[in-house]
Amino acid sequence: MNKERQLQTPFVDALEAYCYEGMVAFHTPGHKLGCGATAYQQGLFGYALRRDLGLMYALDDLFQPQGPLKEAMELAADLYGAGRTFFSINGTTACVEAMILTVCRPGDEIIIPREAHRCVMEGLILSGAVPVYMRSHFAAKEQVTLGPDLASLQAAIAAHPAAKAVLFTYPTYDGVACELEKMISYSHAHGLYVLVDEAHGAHLPFHLDLPKEALACGADMTAQSTHKLAGSITQTSMLHCRRGFPDMERAASAMALVQSTSPQYWLLASLDSARQQLALEGTKRIGRAMALARQLRDELNAIPGIYSFGRNIMKYNGVGGFDETKVTIDFSGLDLTGRQAEVLLRREKIEVELTAANHVLALITLGDTDASIAALLRACRRVAAGQVVRCDRIVTNELPLPDPQVVLSPRNAWNSSKEIVSIQHALGRIAAETIMFYPPGIPIMAPGEIVTASCIAYLQNKVKAGYTPYGAADSTLQTLQVLPRGTEYE
Ligand SMILES: Cc1ncc(COP(=O)(O)O)c(C=O)c1O
Repeated sequence: MNKERQLQTPFVDALEAYCYEGMVAFHTPGHKLGCGATAYQQGLFGYALRRDLGLMYALDDLFQPQGPLKEAMELAADLYGAGRTFFSINGTTACVEAMILTVCRPGDEIIIPREAHRCVMEGLILSGAVPVYMRSHFAAKEQVTLGPDLASLQAAIAAHPAAKAVLFTYPTYDGVACELEKMISYSHAHGLYVLVDEAHGAHLPFHLDLPKEALACGADMTAQSTHKLAGSITQTSMLHCRRGFPDMERAASAMALVQSTSPQYWLLASLDSARQQLALEGTKRIGRAMALARQLRDELNAIPGIYSFGRNIMKYNGVGGFDETKVTIDFSGLDLTGRQAEVLLRREKIEVELTAANHVLALITLGDTDASIAALLRACRRVAAGQVVRCDRIVTNELPLPDPQVVLSPRNAWNSSKEIVSIQHALGRIAAETIMFYPPGIPIMAPGEIVTASCIAYLQNKVKAGYTPYGAADSTLQTLQVLPRGTEYE
């Protein structure tokens, strides 16, 4: 990394300089740098209105960068050790779709983990690729997925020797990291492209105890939500390609395919600025987040009835690392489900990232302080004080994610005509819609899969536990969309 160059913020500087030139705008957006905004909007959006520019040749072009935006993306590549980095204003969702579009053609098989995010399914629909699932493991005590291990990968490759690529989710939403380096070398030895959904990993290079980042493990392409665990604005992510990656130009055109032609420059500037922040202070800031997370976990574990697993999750086979800034707080010792704990915490003015089984997930990032940690601890103590501590844990088991039985490519299923049938009559039919719970956004059922009894049981179980399904045309799940009878399997 070139430390001196990392001090610079070429795109932020260009945007600021342009804004102070006082140009009279005869271009989009219609509010003309805030002139057309109401006083209320001015108050609401403030400075952002004056910087609300997109697709200005004066300020470089996201899809054919030649000036400050090119420099900004090169600096990001330099920071992360990539051959080339692309900025995304459509999150990691766009980056994952673009990765799949880069390496897969219609009909190509791609090996994916069971806990792949819905954007992977979208990438499959767009590209026409066909998913082959790797078996994932599940930690029963902690009620979190551990992802696939090397044996799962080996089995998938042995059963599908013609597969083109493999995609890993690394680390998982809960911070669990598979043995990626080993799995990447095995995949490369078998001629597969390796793509990584590293949505939860933009901070990984900045602390030695965090799982090693995907590029350093040898990934060909990796997508990171800079907005999730680093400091950029929501919706902004980066796609990195390794040095020497042969399909950079296809990646560039795939990124153009999945993003708006009017990228918001304020969002792009936030990526430039977040990159500079990480380069200058990443080690200090992420180190501080780690220290706070460790202190939080220790103190949580001292509250009777509450439990937060830590690096001990690495005792499970196939787990190669753990991101300690992901703090899963288990309330089973207080006989509370994750949903119930979420509601009680909300009353204490705490909003968590996700809930499942008996736990909630709290993210500790470079934005946390002693005060935020103290607030979370105080809230957990108050929740505990209002409950009876049980000697035994009352575990609300998450049902295992149903095993997908893919009979048609997601694209062909998505393009097919659809029928609406009652959920009971959907059993054994081919699904035509993607249904998930969000977060974590893992499809429980996706187009082209058989609707199985375990799939229906999983959906009904979650709804009964108070979770809202996403993606279903009928959100009550009384009915499901399926393909017409007689649709040919592929
Ligand atoms: C594992 C995973 N991949 C991809 C995404 C999509 O990321 P983004 O919100 O940046 O589009 C998410 C979002 O939650 C995610 O959890």
